[in-house]
Amino acid sequence: MKALVYHGPGQRGWDTVDDPTIVDPTDIVVRIDTSTICGTDLHILKGDVPETTPGTVLGHEAVGTVQEIGAGVSTVAVGDRVLLSCVSACGRCRFCKEGRYGQCLGGGGWIFGHTIDGLQAEYARVPFADNSVYKVPDELSDEQVLFLADILPTSYEVGVLNGMVTPGDVVAIVGAGPIGLAAILTARLYTPGRIVAIDLADSRLESAVRFGADTTINNGREDALAAVMELTDGLGADVAFEAVGVPQTFELATELIRPCGRVANIGVHGQPATLHLEKLWIRDVTVTTGLVDTYTIPRLMKLVSSGRLDPTIFATHHFALGETMSAYDTFADAASTNALKVVLEGSERAHSSNGRIGASVVAAG
Ligand SMILES: NC(=O)c1ccc[n+]([C@@H]2O[C@H](COP(=O)([O-])OP(=O)(O)OC[C@H]3O[C@@H](n4cnc5c(N)ncnc54)[C@H](O)[C@@H]3O)[C@@H](O)[C@H]2O)c1
Ligand SMILES: [Zn+2]
Ligand SMILES: [Zn+2]
Repeated sequence: MKALVYHGPGQRGWDTVDDPTIVDPTDIVVRIDTSTICGTDLHILKGDVPETTPGTVLGHEAVGTVQEIGAGVSTVAVGDRVLLSCVSACGRCRFCKEGRYGQCLGGGGWIFGHTIDGLQAEYARVPFADNSVYKVPDELSDEQVLFLADILPTSYEVGVLNGMVTPGDVVAIVGAGPIGLAAILTARLYTPGRIVAIDLADSRLESAVRFGADTTINNGREDALAAVMELTDGLGADVAFEAVGVPQTFELATELIRPCGRVANIGVHGQPATLHLEKLWIRDVTVTTGLVDTYTIPRLMKLVSSGRLDPTIFATHHFALGETMSAYDTFADAASTNALKVVLEGSERAHSSNGRIGASVVAAG
């Protein structure tokens, strides 16, 4: 089969590799019908993720059709269309039993395209299938559920739920990339009073407005702290999300919060950030951190089914799976392509049960 293979920092190829097979009885093999690329894949390609070794197939978000099932799999059948989560769950360890799959001790957690071969491929081996895949209702297209593999549950669980967004809240979101934008979409489920998006890039702020932000602040030109204080009678935001992953934005999120407010850090940090406890302790501020567990996928899928949530707004570009190399170029150059998420469509896609998209696929500009 063909797959997108990591060959060490700065190097990738669309290579012929061995077809995946069942290794453990809890495995399934899935044909990938629709996949996508994440900012984390770009981090791996920069060499920031040393656990990912050269030769690994990248990708941790996909929808596919079950081809083969291991002897120990009982809830998934050949032919089922399933969403593959970025986080796998052994289902047996302490954390899996608490729904904290991201912390799985039994060989799950974030493994696809990280410590095992991933999902930017024609086929994939999926471990712990009974606990880790989600059947897609017939009426939903692949594209409607694809972004429930990672970005939506991330922003919902680590942002909105950890930050306890409540009706009427002023929610300030620092960073309006896919994660910040998914935070806007899922915060709106709770009817906040005002959503404030903060980013250095005007194009991202324009997207933020399309996704439902009420106010945008370009913190390259404006004093974001002063602007949020002005909007909130000098008190600060009720909830702030950090959705970038650098020290400055974490520190900004803790500055623009009101007393008794909540700062939910979503960004992945590679450098230490300063926690100004000397200012925060007296203000009763709560700071949360988290890795996504994806335990909210079933809930988010119901919201998509009922028309309350439309993640297809993220899909800015479409490519055939065989054009994954060009899709990376487009996604990595978001500053000029305005890419949010690219959709990679397998050649079998036209035969998947949704059948909404035909075989001719073009790369949108
Ligand atoms: N916690 C988790 O489980 C989890 C899961 C997935 C992703 N993440 C992390 O979430 C973060 C955001 O992901 P993404 O895909 O949206 O990233 P992205 O790089 O596409 O977007 C980041 C945005 O932040 C903006 N930005 C950069 N510096 C800024 C600054 N100083 N002030 C304001 N805005 C600034 C950029 O213009 C961009 O729009 C990353 O750190 C990612 O690794 C966390
Ligand atoms: Zn990801
Ligand atoms: Zn586990």
